[in-house]
Amino acid sequence: MVMHKIKLAYQFRDGFRMHYKRPVYCTNLFFENSTRTKTSFEMAEAKLGLKILDFDVQHSSVSKGETLDDTLLTLQALGVDIAVVRHPQNKFYRSLNPDNSMGLINGGDGSGQHPSQTLLDMFTIYDEFQNFANLKILIAGDLIHSRVAHSNAKLLKKLGAQIFFSGPVEWYGSEFDQLGTYVDIDDVIDQVDVVMLLRIQTERFDASQNDLSVDQYLSKYGLTKQRAEKMKPTAIIMHPAPVNRGTEIEGELVESSASRIFQQMTNGVFMRMAIITDILRTKGLIESEEFNESAN
Ligand code: NCD
Repeated sequence: MVMHKIKLAYQFRDGFRMHYKRPVYCTNLFFENSTRTKTSFEMAEAKLGLKILDFDVQHSSVSKGETLDDTLLTLQALGVDIAVVRHPQNKFYRSLNPDNSMGLINGGDGSGQHPSQTLLDMFTIYDEFQNFANLKILIAGDLIHSRVAHSNAKLLKKLGAQIFFSGPVEWYGSEFDQLGTYVDIDDVIDQVDVVMLLRIQTERFDASQNDLSVDQYLSKYGLTKQRAEKMKPTAIIMHPAPVNRGTEIEGELVESSASRIFQQMTNGVFMRMAIITDILRTKGLIESEEFNESAN
């Protein structure tokens, strides 16, 4: 599944194009803030030539108490083919009506999973190393609150990578035990191929966690220039963003030659085109597919 999606993402990067049997309609429902994921999906949809309907959560009937399920059933009744949903509730998709046959893409559920980010991260790693099984990957930071950490660790483990986790012990969870090894960043920084940093997800903290200080976070747990100098010359820095410069990473490392942070964003558009295309194929909506080098 992962290699299939990566190959399709490469095809889109090289100018693959779709033609549809009829106009295809999509919308993006973001119940949590987003810059990258929402715009990246919109860009992917625009590049695929889909008709994008604006859905403004704040001004929708959700503010009148309509449930997510009823909102999605409404969109289906209106003729929407695909909806991308980001929601603060973990596994929000479990409570949805199974009769709704609209294509549904998880744009991130609470601290649960972030599948499209994971696939774009796998694309970025594969593009760099052409394999996963021989890699050592450090996932560093606020692990328990991060859907990126949960999704990425699970898939990287399946793909055979060796995973290390680092960060404040309060933000490490037992769910990571079978997936990798909890370490001090300084013990592995010179050995890993990928340093994957996470934002401190203050919006997911409960009252008991509010006293965890971020003041000395960079020096204790973050990627400082001193630590970056110890990285292998082939190693790369990743971060799903938004980045808090000076907290999880020293500001200027974001633009350093080892950083793939902006490449991840660029790759994300092609990966999301791949994700959407697989749904359109399943729904039988594609008339023909062709290469057109000027498409991208
Ligand atoms: C991540 C998210 O929303 O989970 N960002 C993203 O989608 N690019 C990580 C984060 O918000 O820190």
